[in-house]
Amino acid sequence: MNSKINKILKKKNKSKIICLTSYSKNMAEEADKYADIILVGDSLGSVLYNYDTTRKVTLSNMIDHSKSVRQGVKKSLMVVDMPYNTYYTKNLALKNARKIIKETKCDAVKLEGGKKIIEQIRFLIKNKIPVMGHLGLLPQTNRGKFKSKGGNIREKKQLIKDSLLLQDSGVFSIVLECIKTSTAKQITDKLNIPTIGIGSSVNCDGQVLVIDDLIGLNDTKIKFVKKFVNIKKYINLGLRKFALDVKSKKYPLKKHSY
Ligand code: KIV
Repeated sequence: MNSKINKILKKKNKSKIICLTSYSKNMAEEADKYADIILVGDSLGSVLYNYDTTRKVTLSNMIDHSKSVRQGVKKSLMVVDMPYNTYYTKNLALKNARKIIKETKCDAVKLEGGKKIIEQIRFLIKNKIPVMGHLGLLPQTNRGKFKSKGGNIREKKQLIKDSLLLQDSGVFSIVLECIKTSTAKQITDKLNIPTIGIGSSVNCDGQVLVIDDLIGLNDTKIKFVKKFVNIKKYINLGLRKFALDVKSKKYPLKKHSY
C-alpha cells in the first residue's frame, strides 16, 4: 500500500487529518505545509470558472489543474476528483482513472456516491487504483439543492449502509459532506477508515475546506465555511501600492530595469 495512505489510515482515533483543496501550484505549495491530503476538487468549476454546477467540469479541466498542483505537492497525499460523467460504467471509470493517474501522477481519485457506483469503485480498487469515497451532499448529482443529509431515519440508515459498503470495497477514506452531526458521528464511530468532514461536525476524523473559501478569496455564504483570514485585504494592499508607485513613477526603479 502507498505509504502516504498508510499514514492517513494510522491517524484514525489518534490525530485529526487536515485536507485542503488546491487548483494550482502556488497554492498547493502553501497547502502542502499544513495538509495531510491535498484534493484537486471539481469545486474548481464553481470557484474558478463560475459554473452553476460541477457537472460542467471536464476531465481535461481536472488533468490540467492537477498537473499544476502536482508541481507544488511534496509530502501530502494528492487526490483528484473524477468529474461527472467520467465513471458511469466500470470500464469507463478505469480508463479515466488510469488517464488521471498517468498524466497527473496523483496518488488517488475521489468519486461521489455509495451503492449506485459501488461496482465502479470495486473495479478501480481491484485494478490497484486507490479510491477516496464521498457521501452526503453530492454536488455532481444534488443539482443546486444545498441541503444537509442524514437528518431522518431513512437517510441515516442509507448513509451508514453506504459508508460500510464503501469501506468493504476498500476505499481508504470517505468525505462526509453536509451530514447531520449525530449521523456523521455514528458513521465515523462504525468505520475503521477515516472520515473527512465538510459541514459534518467535529466528530469526523479530519476536515476539508475549499482553500479559496477559508482564506476569503472566494465569497461564499455557506454555513460550514469559516473565513480564517481576509486575504483580499492583503491582495488589495499590494495592488494599490503597485498602482500608486506606477502612477508616481516610483516603480520601476533603476534596479528593476535592464
Ligand atoms: O470538489 C471539492 O472540492 C470537494 C470537497 C469540497 C470535498 O469535493
